[in-house]
Amino acid sequence: MECKRLDFTIGDVIEIYEGPVGRLWELLMGEEIHVGGEKETDLLAEKAGINKTSSVLDVCSALGGPARHLARKYGCRVTGLDATGKMVNEAIVRTERDGLSHLVSFRQGNALDIPFHAGTFDIVWGQDAWCYITDKERLIRETNRVLGTGGVIAFTDWIQTGKMADNECEELNTFMAFPYMETQDGYEEILMDKGFKIIEKEDLSRDFARHCHLYQNKLRNELKQTIISHYGNELYQAADDGLDKWVMAADEGKVGRARMIGKKI
Ligand SMILES: C[S@@+](CC[C@H](N)C(=O)[O-])C[C@H]1O[C@@H](n2cnc3c(N)ncnc32)[C@H](O)[C@@H]1O
Repeated sequence: MECKRLDFTIGDVIEIYEGPVGRLWELLMGEEIHVGGEKETDLLAEKAGINKTSSVLDVCSALGGPARHLARKYGCRVTGLDATGKMVNEAIVRTERDGLSHLVSFRQGNALDIPFHAGTFDIVWGQDAWCYITDKERLIRETNRVLGTGGVIAFTDWIQTGKMADNECEELNTFMAFPYMETQDGYEEILMDKGFKIIEKEDLSRDFARHCHLYQNKLRNELKQTIISHYGNELYQAADDGLDKWVMAADEGKVGRARMIGKKI
């Protein structure tokens, strides 16, 4: 069922998030740029067992919305890692604004070469971003390295859930600049192979399809004029066309989202 991998690189992702795309996603989803917002962050936190003694690494932290939420609500320390300078800088500014810099910090870097020593964190965290990563095996190996013994990996990601023709898959991934999406079974295999025991896995694809419709309605009914006036009609049309393809693929059960919790053994 695997689709052909595309040759998007970390440089492409940085270029995209240095431009208006990060802002567009924020308009659509909020400061926490993932499906389900704060509610989903709380659910993942509960499943990961986050408390005030936890030291969390958020891999692909973007604007740092989840990192601040975790620190504010649970009192834990959070380090955000993101490749895009603009996202890291904005995350730092917002964290200072919210008076959370004593708990939350950010570092620019590549998830495939996590710039921290072995055993630094209790929890590695990711929300709806690892679909951008070009080598999921290496990513999970890196997360295992920076976790202490018994550490927890907790993440959600956009996944492939059904068979697709190569051109359909290519269109969906190209719109998002994803090199490829994992399947849930694929993630399970990688986690077990890289030294994790699976604690929980959940297919959230029905909820993903519902959210795709919500985002499409928001784009068309609330954000259209703002986007056109700030970024032009071409960008609006591209967003509308791309999102439409995702809505259809989600309805047809070809793409979705999963939540995975693992423990380092
Ligand atoms: C959808 S946003 C992440 C949203 C964030 N997890 C949240 O819930 O608010 C994707 C982010 O992944 C980052 N990213 C993509 N590939 C990366 C890589 N190889 N290393 C580090 N960051 C990466 C991008 O710079 C971007 O900020």
